[in-house]
Amino acid sequence: MTNRLRRADPVGRLLTDPEVATPAFVIDDAKLQVNLDFAKEKAARLGVTLRPHLKTHKSIEIARRQMLSPEGPATVSTLAEARYFAENGVKDLIYAVGIAPQKLADVAAIREAGCDLKIILDNVAAAKAVSAFCTRRGVTIPVLIEVDCDGHRSGVRPESELLIEIARALTDGAELAGVLTHAGASYDVENLAVIRRAAANERDGIVTAANRLREAGFEVRIVSIGSTPTMTHAEDETGVTEIRAGVYALGDLFMMNLGVVPMDRIAGTVLCTVIGHQPEKGQGDRRRGREGHAPRPRPRPPALRLRLRPRLRRRRQAASRLRHPHDGRQSGTRHHRGRRRRPTQARGPARRHAPSHHAQPRLPDRGAL
Ligand SMILES: Cc1ncc(COP(=O)(O)O)c(C=O)c1O
Repeated sequence: MTNRLRRADPVGRLLTDPEVATPAFVIDDAKLQVNLDFAKEKAARLGVTLRPHLKTHKSIEIARRQMLSPEGPATVSTLAEARYFAENGVKDLIYAVGIAPQKLADVAAIREAGCDLKIILDNVAAAKAVSAFCTRRGVTIPVLIEVDCDGHRSGVRPESELLIEIARALTDGAELAGVLTHAGASYDVENLAVIRRAAANERDGIVTAANRLREAGFEVRIVSIGSTPTMTHAEDETGVTEIRAGVYALGDLFMMNLGVVPMDRIAGTVLCTVIGHQPEKGQGDRRRGREGHAPRPRPRPPALRLRLRPRLRRRRQAASRLRHPHDGRQSGTRHHRGRRRRPTQARGPARRHAPSHHAQPRLPDRGAL
């Protein structure tokens, strides 16, 4: 039954339908559409091309609605994603993770199949390896030099001499296509003014790098920036040709904490089934499966952490009282032999984990799933 329903079209079913297999990743189609429209309009207003990052959902159905055309452009974070989207008709991709030479054969194969897949790198050794590969195989591979605009990610600094050295090392089919940066600092901020500064800094860094290369005689077609926070709050992208952002499509709690995506625009949630309930302990067990396990949360910005702390503290104290009603011990003071294991039980009253903001929860009525 479960497998049949997983394969069957779940679109339009009530989230409370017991036949829906859980854990289920649920996409609110209306919210998704608002987010997709927002990014297209924002990129148009800034006068840049939208090159969405597709790694968050890895779905061609969403990608087709997210991209400017069914052929792209778009960004991916693995060659498996590149192959999948290329096989589904996307013809303009950047694989936006520094290239490892042993992956060049796969890059060439995807390009030979008709997708203009571009790669990025940030050092002379990698540039030489790509050049040698292109010479040996008689192929062309467009390359973007990765620029580090804020000290948070890989890449060369915009003012670095290395930038020019890397461009010079791209020869014989390894073609300089442009420059790319990702403002990692925009995830580590205290308020929207800081995100705006991160966006301006991202732009200034990449435009400096592009201009330095041009002054050194290189053609720089693509000047690529982007993250969800900087795309959302950028005010001026003069000199930039394209924006890559990805998380904005579904949104998440991290972006909400940053003040980038409001709660009522988070389009992706995980539906779980409660498989156990121990009211006397104030806990329930959820069947979440892999889909329900978020990656280790990134640290909250300090200002928000301050705001959330009293509520979290009260919740933890309440949970601790429920777990140890008689001995008055505080949460975290129990002694464990060996490593302490993360609790698998949900704290607080058991509930079916439908998103609480849905008054009438329904699965989306358009093809996102
Ligand atoms: C190189 C690169 N570009 C774009 C993005 C998209 O940014 P966001 O996840 O904030 O949407 C990422 C995300 O990590 C990235 O690594």
